[in-house]
Amino acid sequence: MSRLVVVSNRVGIPDGSARAGGLEVSIRPALKKRGGIWFGWSGKVAEDRTGAAKTVEHDKVSYITIDLLKDDYEEFYNGFANRVLWPILHYRLDLAEFTRRDLGGYFRVNQYFVENLERVLRPDDVIWVHDYHLMPLAQMLRERGHKNRIGFFLHIPCPPPEILTGLPNHERLIPALCHYDLVGFQTENDANNFSRYLAIEVGLKRAGDDAFHYEDRIVQTGIFPVGVETEAFARLARRAVNSQFVRHVMTSMADRALIIGVDRLDYSKGIPERFNAFERFLTEFSDWRGLVTYLQITPRSRSDIREYADIARQVGELVGRINGTFGEASWTPLRYVNKAHSRTALAGLYRFARVGLVTPLRDGMNLVAKEYIAAQNPEDPGVLVLSRFAGAARECGAALLVNPYDSEGVAIAINRALGMPLEERRMRHEANFAVLVKNDLTHWAERFLGLLEGPMAAEAEVRPAVRRVGGAG
Ligand code: F6P
Repeated sequence: MSRLVVVSNRVGIPDGSARAGGLEVSIRPALKKRGGIWFGWSGKVAEDRTGAAKTVEHDKVSYITIDLLKDDYEEFYNGFANRVLWPILHYRLDLAEFTRRDLGGYFRVNQYFVENLERVLRPDDVIWVHDYHLMPLAQMLRERGHKNRIGFFLHIPCPPPEILTGLPNHERLIPALCHYDLVGFQTENDANNFSRYLAIEVGLKRAGDDAFHYEDRIVQTGIFPVGVETEAFARLARRAVNSQFVRHVMTSMADRALIIGVDRLDYSKGIPERFNAFERFLTEFSDWRGLVTYLQITPRSRSDIREYADIARQVGELVGRINGTFGEASWTPLRYVNKAHSRTALAGLYRFARVGLVTPLRDGMNLVAKEYIAAQNPEDPGVLVLSRFAGAARECGAALLVNPYDSEGVAIAINRALGMPLEERRMRHEANFAVLVKNDLTHWAERFLGLLEGPMAAEAEVRPAVRRVGGAG
């Protein structure tokens, strides 16, 4: 078996810290099982480029990280990746702030990744690149003569061509993905949007159902909804409810029903809209006042970016308004916490919560939704209220699916979830859990790597139709 080299902006160095974000959670087990290299940014900003890449060896995996310069951090991370690509890929053209300087920084840092990466690369390594920070990486490697199998997985949504073309320089960025052998997406919708872009904007001809001719190569696309370690997370949750931390939170609830939300502080997560819905719920279904507590855990994220500072302020104001209006000396309706929590703590809280509120305005997958399901007690499960605009909604159709822009609809769903009879809760949970067992994290990684390393369209002579790669497995 070839050596696996994973490349992503964030690297999950095993240092015991609790960081927020689905990418790290999804890559770690795949690499741990097979061993290999995980290459990316250290998360640190250095004064100059004199520091060499640092390597930490742990459990068959070499974690190799490089620092960014201040300008790189500003132009690449805060700039093009998170002020342009992030909003546009989340359908928010209105929030994108494009500058040519940031675009230059994006390409410069990708080049810097390539220069450092090729020091450790072997010709038969299989390379798996993750997420929007590193879209041009394969093209840059190819230009330097690397012929490795290279795959790319987009963890976040891919919008339709009508929105993608609003991305300045999309002609340079999106077709660059065709230098990968395999480009994977979370849902059929994302994969179709990419295919439509290639057909309409680049004029590529199909080389089968899911593959396209591009210059002298063939690029294969596929649908790989990322999963969680379903059974292991369920075990963790069973143990975690007895932890001191979870017991302490439970005691502080004084028999009130817990509603839980866990998200990075990001405008794509729909937190203000969710708070409005909770306010509406307390207004319309006033019998619940004093009987429920909504705990929203929201670690701060990308705080140097104006839109993130704005959302932090807006959310803080809403918390004040809701607690000011409805709170009592003995009851705080909404607990809002910015601290990141360990996976164990979250697993226990999910199991204890009667309702999981996951209502992003747009999300590639959303692993909180899947972990909430995995954590439930099958005998007495809680209910997931899930945005139809999260990738997870495709697989978790037995959740209460809502439109996060419709605060009245979300308020009604919260009320329904809290009052749902046990039999219905069990049926819904069983259906969702079965899907997550079938398409767990191992399955996701094996399917992607199986295709990337197998006899792909790029090697075949141009087959009339390539087997459709899709579904929840
Ligand atoms: O899952 C999407 C993603 O942007 C990952 O690429 C990233 O690691 C995670 O969210 C957290 O974001 P950040 O790395 O910017 O803190």
